[in-house]
Amino acid sequence: TTARLTLDPAFRIGPVEPRLFGSFVEHMGRCVYTGVFEPGHPLADADGLRTDVLELTRELGVTLVRYPGGNFVSNYRWEDGVGPAEERPARLDLAWRSLEGNGFGLNEFMAWAAKAGVEPMMALNLGTRGVAEALELVEYTNYPGGTRLSDLRRSHGVDKPHDVRLWCLGNELDGPWQMGHKTAAEYGRLAAETARALKRFDGGLSLVACGSSNSGMPTFGAWEAEVLEATYEMVDYISLHAYYDPSDGDADSFLASGADMEHMIRSITATADHVGAKLRSKKRIRLSFDEWNVWYQSRFSGESSLDWEERPRLIEDTYDVTDAVVVGSLLITLLRNTDRVGVACQAQLANVIAPIRTEPGGPAWRQSIFHPFALTARHARGQVLRVEPECEVIPTARYGEAPAIWATATHDEVTGELVLFVVNRDRNAPCALELTLPEGLRPVEHLELTDDDLSAVNSADVPDRVVPRPGDGPRLEGRRASLNLSPVSWNIVRFA
Ligand code: AHR
Repeated sequence: TTARLTLDPAFRIGPVEPRLFGSFVEHMGRCVYTGVFEPGHPLADADGLRTDVLELTRELGVTLVRYPGGNFVSNYRWEDGVGPAEERPARLDLAWRSLEGNGFGLNEFMAWAAKAGVEPMMALNLGTRGVAEALELVEYTNYPGGTRLSDLRRSHGVDKPHDVRLWCLGNELDGPWQMGHKTAAEYGRLAAETARALKRFDGGLSLVACGSSNSGMPTFGAWEAEVLEATYEMVDYISLHAYYDPSDGDADSFLASGADMEHMIRSITATADHVGAKLRSKKRIRLSFDEWNVWYQSRFSGESSLDWEERPRLIEDTYDVTDAVVVGSLLITLLRNTDRVGVACQAQLANVIAPIRTEPGGPAWRQSIFHPFALTARHARGQVLRVEPECEVIPTARYGEAPAIWATATHDEVTGELVLFVVNRDRNAPCALELTLPEGLRPVEHLELTDDDLSAVNSADVPDRVVPRPGDGPRLEGRRASLNLSPVSWNIVRFA
């Protein structure tokens, strides 16, 4: 097939939002325990943090990490996770029917975040708890000293406040699986009152109201409208969550996940702006896509099958080449919508549907999906450009017709570098892509992630089976270039 696109620094969507390269650490399975935290591991530091995982997190280019859940947070008591480790209680985690030993909590997470060089994004329990407990946690976390809770933090060895700026008002409260599940009216009221109190404490905090758990929820759209009507002037973001998988064997739909994610973003943007119009507000709500990834839900037998184990092996999906191409497409979608999506978190960071895998006492390695994330986070700089390829469409069972070529580009005004991120999601044919470039730019690097065997994966024994490899690069003729895109490939092309 053939396709065409124009790269022009004059057509900007907005600056690359650094918080788009977020990740997520939930107390779930082995994300925390034997993932980021494993006292006694040969590579653990004095705080019990795995330095191999810290190094990989930095290499991944993660900018922000959401914590401690997820479904876990909706029945969590943050007090259980602070203070002397030997005095912390074991508790039942009802979300994942696991045993929570509380060896890792708020202060351990903050120490980890500082070493990883990431901004913390904290989630509050608005499932089984309410305004009072949210205020107590924020006082413990952010107030300098001289009050009961800030002094309690200081007595726990943390003198300076953590000063967390970004807070989630609960998690997926529209879902009946959530502890403390609520109707939109109940949640909207609780979120509004919590937000009002938190902004009284510190008007500069950024707050995220829960949107729908996924776009298949019966109340998708209606939930967001009702919640935002109740909270509009008090919150900054509404959340979106989406997980994609080819469980029904429908690879064409799976490869169009990026287009579906864009549809979802535009739907929620329209919903938020509709509420803003009704309220005659000039404020624009931004989107926090704080859970997204490929997740083979069909491989998970469900929460009720779990039996109160400590750190069970939960949803440790092994990702192949196609999964990495889809993750690359989802990142392209987030960049394409940088004017409205202000935060995004891939779920999760380690072991649990994660780019980083570990073995207890053993190695850590990069899954296939690690690579498009790391390269996008490293090279997407400056302004996101509006890129609209002219290309064929491929029919899909789930999403109708979706474009064969999915692309975005960034332009760094300081260095002059222009970077194209492009996916060919056609399974049967390469694509000859014709590019029109700004004057004077030449290609400096082309990497592609693809393989003759799309089911190839990385493992502890063969950790680098799936890696990006140099592509043929574009052939340049004046301001035009032609680039060959392999079937099912994610590509990054840098021009300088
Ligand atoms: O990331 C796994 C789970 O997916 C989270 O706990 C929950 O918020 C979502 O349903």
